[in-house]
Amino acid sequence: MTHATRNPRSSRWLAFVALATGVLLAGCERPPVDTVQTGYRGTGMEQVYNPRTFAKVVEANQPPDAQPPASPDGPKAKDIYQNVQVLGDLSVGQFTRHMAAITQWVAPQQGCAYCHNLQNLADDSLYTKVVARRMLQMTQHINENWKNHVAATGVTCYTCHRGQNVPQQVWFQPVPQRVRANFIGDLAEQNQPAETVGLASLPYDPFTPYLLDKINSAPIRVNGTTALPTGNLSSIKQAEFTYGLMMHMSGALGVNCTYCHNTQNFGKWEGSPPQRLTAYHGIRMARDVNSDYIVPLTDKFPENRLGPMGDVAKVNCATCHQGAYKPVLGAQMAKDYPELLKVLKTTSLPAPVSEPLFALMYFAVGSPVLEGTQEKAMGQLVQTMKTRPRATATISGFHSATGGADLNAELAKQRAFTVRDSLIAAGIAESRIVLEKPVETQGNVAGEDPSARRVEVRVN
Ligand code: HEC
Ligand code: HEC
Ligand code: HEC
Ligand code: HEC
Repeated sequence: MTHATRNPRSSRWLAFVALATGVLLAGCERPPVDTVQTGYRGTGMEQVYNPRTFAKVVEANQPPDAQPPASPDGPKAKDIYQNVQVLGDLSVGQFTRHMAAITQWVAPQQGCAYCHNLQNLADDSLYTKVVARRMLQMTQHINENWKNHVAATGVTCYTCHRGQNVPQQVWFQPVPQRVRANFIGDLAEQNQPAETVGLASLPYDPFTPYLLDKINSAPIRVNGTTALPTGNLSSIKQAEFTYGLMMHMSGALGVNCTYCHNTQNFGKWEGSPPQRLTAYHGIRMARDVNSDYIVPLTDKFPENRLGPMGDVAKVNCATCHQGAYKPVLGAQMAKDYPELLKVLKTTSLPAPVSEPLFALMYFAVGSPVLEGTQEKAMGQLVQTMKTRPRATATISGFHSATGGADLNAELAKQRAFTVRDSLIAAGIAESRIVLEKPVETQGNVAGEDPSARRVEVRVN
């Protein structure tokens, strides 16, 4: 696990560094190594492979066999079962096959009981089931909407989980260790060899600034674009964070910098191999997945799954790639599970309301994400805010009557945040936005009413 939070002064850490260095020096780069030229002669564009290390990568990346196919005929899952919100349109046979597959991918030791109360399979009381349902939607979202990264290969739960409850490669926010009580002062998260950045003494958490937030992430630009040092406002510190991220990306894929760059000029896109563009989208995808799926699940997880700062384990390049240039070396696993390839909607949401001074947007079950036409409804609201520069938008979030009270209250809040963030992303000043918690956030009396899962916005 990529855990950048150890106290650098503890002797355990020192012992670990000594051991890790020993293992690294003993284990890799023993000659002979192979080089493969990937660009024009003289540009230094080559990949250096150690065939023995690569053999281990191959061994660790063998996909499991697909489940035997199931018939699409017969009654649908939503007609037979009580609480199927995502996979309802599968036949009962296909649904059962899917349950067998996710058990194999995520909980082969524990079996069905890992996510289910075996007395009542419809019950949502185990957090693992609630998380799994959202992961299901996340996997569909990645495969449908991030094709510019995952192509037709796509991902399954196995891509990240590999038969384990928690993916092996995840990241947490480190405990800040910025100030040291001597003349050196600010540590700026660096000068300590950290695994996250290939044991270099670069800032050891390049993830919080670059992979966490799909709206406010820092730009990954440090090179000047002119011959003279004019106009380039990037600091050395920014450059160090950028290099930290690049070390992670290289390590996660098991490649050298030249896999994505013509090192004659790191900043230039012309002349970069096409993999750089794939990586560019990968960065945006990781932000999107963390912002919209993983982080909003934080309060579902028990304490022991959270990091030292109380945050949930998040995704970086290594979560899927695990040392391979393509996860599971490009094995086409997802094609055997077409239900994972696109976002399936069993209940359609009501049409959003967008009137000049009032807007209503609806949300899917358990989701704080604006989807489809709901997202489009933001346009009118933004327009109103722009044509009335003195107006304020007051946003209130609501939830339906099913589910736990605490989780629901949080969900209503997250929905309001989503609308606020979309307004800010569209250029509306935060000072013009007010979040107002309604007296009663529950939008209906009983059951799963789609019109209850909403956000109301008043403009005045
Ligand atoms: C990793 C978590 C996970 C595992 C393991 C798992 N399930 Fe599920 N199961 C779910 C989720 C999530 C749903 C709801 C799916 C949806 O909303 O579309 C579900 C729903 C069901 C339902 C529908 C119940 C109802 O009435 O609503 C059945 C039946 C079921 N699972 C059977 C199984 C069986 C049998 C196994 C073991 C082979 C299994 N599941 C293993 C997560 C899991
Ligand atoms: C992009 C990577 C990724 C994919 C794909 C993915 N997961 Fe996860 N999963 C995670 C991360 C990250 C966590 C958070 C781990 C934590 O905080 O403990 C997680 C946690 C979980 C947990 C809770 C584990 C626990 O014991 O606390 C379940 C259950 C789960 N995932 C099920 C699934 C299922 C089912 C699928 C496929 C439909 C899936 N995941 C696909 C990354 C992924
Ligand atoms: C997997 C592909 C990949 C690998 C490997 C990689 N990079 Fe990058 N690099 C990128 C992408 C993509 C960007 C642009 C990111 C963005 O704009 O969001 C970038 C940006 C940069 C920048 C900033 C350029 C600018 O415009 O100012 C530098 C410097 C850099 N990389 C150096 C490196 C170094 C050094 C290595 C090896 C340790 C490396 N990169 C490995 C993909 C990669
Ligand atoms: C959700 C899982 C997932 C995450 C997270 C992820 N990738 Fe990927 N990546 C894939 C898949 C799947 C492919 C294979 C696509 C294909 O077959 O063309 C891929 C392909 C690539 C490729 C193209 C490789 C080649 O030789 O064509 C690059 C480069 C890459 N990823 C870089 C990154 C970087 C950098 C990050 C982190 C910022 C990242 N990926 C995060 C799933 C992921």
